[in-house]
Amino acid sequence: MKLAVFGGGSSYTPELIQGVIENFELLPFSEVCLMDIDQRRLEVLVGLSRRMLARADVPVTVTATTERRRALEGATFVNSLIRVGGMEARVGDERIPLKYNVVGQETTGPGGMMKALRTIPVMLDLAGDMVEICPDAWLINYTNPSGIMAEALGRHSRVRFVGLCSGPQEWIREILALMDVDPARANVDWVGLNHLGFATRVWVDGEDATERAIAAVAGHWSVDPEWLRSLGAIPASYLRYYYHHTAVVQEAKEPGFRTRGEQVKEIEAQLLREYADPGLAEKPELLRQRGGGGYSDVAFAAMRAIIHNIGERQIIQVLNRGAVDGIPDDASVEVACLVDRMGPRPLRVGAIPLPIRGLIQAVKAYESLTVQAAVEGSRRVAMQALMAHPLVPSWEVAEPLLDDLLQANRPWIPWAD
Ligand code: G6P
Repeated sequence: MKLAVFGGGSSYTPELIQGVIENFELLPFSEVCLMDIDQRRLEVLVGLSRRMLARADVPVTVTATTERRRALEGATFVNSLIRVGGMEARVGDERIPLKYNVVGQETTGPGGMMKALRTIPVMLDLAGDMVEICPDAWLINYTNPSGIMAEALGRHSRVRFVGLCSGPQEWIREILALMDVDPARANVDWVGLNHLGFATRVWVDGEDATERAIAAVAGHWSVDPEWLRSLGAIPASYLRYYYHHTAVVQEAKEPGFRTRGEQVKEIEAQLLREYADPGLAEKPELLRQRGGGGYSDVAFAAMRAIIHNIGERQIIQVLNRGAVDGIPDDASVEVACLVDRMGPRPLRVGAIPLPIRGLIQAVKAYESLTVQAAVEGSRRVAMQALMAHPLVPSWEVAEPLLDDLLQANRPWIPWAD
């Protein structure tokens, strides 16, 4: 088995190598091929990956290439960790909307739209190459915005893919820990979109414990405790950007505020220095400061379930295919799926509870329009997407905001001129 890592020079790659080591019995890869367009980062990550595998005494060969098509030859799984435009572009996504009093975030709002517009063409090219070169391989995607990527892949390519996010697993773990409940006794109903998901019911020993769960997390969550109790569901932490939009923008306008991308740039520079140290042969402590820490757990769980036909319940980004009422079949959702050798199949959810239904449907419309804008290269459709987004208040804001964003993204979006 061969694992190809697209964006192998990512600072998250040691996460993945740790997963290769821990899962070697069930997933005995003979080769991990790191592919990246950045030769220097590639060299650093290849060095560390080899040292980690040698220290763990796991016989996997690490190869490296800057040519995508070569990386795909003979691949069983392809993991995507790419970030088109790098951290520079992320900081633009975070800073520009703030000028218009709109949240600046890498996956939520106009920033997320720009990240999607930059990334979708590259992702679809990769998918096209996979269909040609390794048609049986699975694309395990972690590149954000993960839900929008899933919709683009599902609608516009024939590639077999799994759309991942470590978020739901982390949030559910946190909810159960605050309740002091062993995860083996619990089950959580989950519905929504990527970074817009909700735990709608928490079951413990088969009994509905949702109220207990809400009481346990209130005061420890990203949204106001009183609102949490009124809402009757537990939202993903990213819902703070919607329910507390005014406060989020105000905080970001305080003097001395640094965006997450600005912070991550520093963490990454330090990580790369540590990775280059020939004495380092394990995942360094500092990597915990990155948000996507649980990535390799969810990626390897999905790969194990596919290879061993396990039929495990995992929360994944998939095309809806009738699971959630009021969402088109070919639009992506984040729901519990059964994962086996056929990949993920969404489990039936039914109706979305009314207090969260409108928001999910509105953001879904924005996401679908974003996919269309990227595929058609259309400014007009990008404007429709922006206007459909609940955090963009009006045309007066959207017009100059889109101009500003497109201007900043000219290096990566050919139709931005
Ligand atoms: C969480 C999200 C991921 C995101 C990450 C950002 O894990 O679920 O989708 O990529 O945080 O972490 P960063 O360190 O880049 O801010």
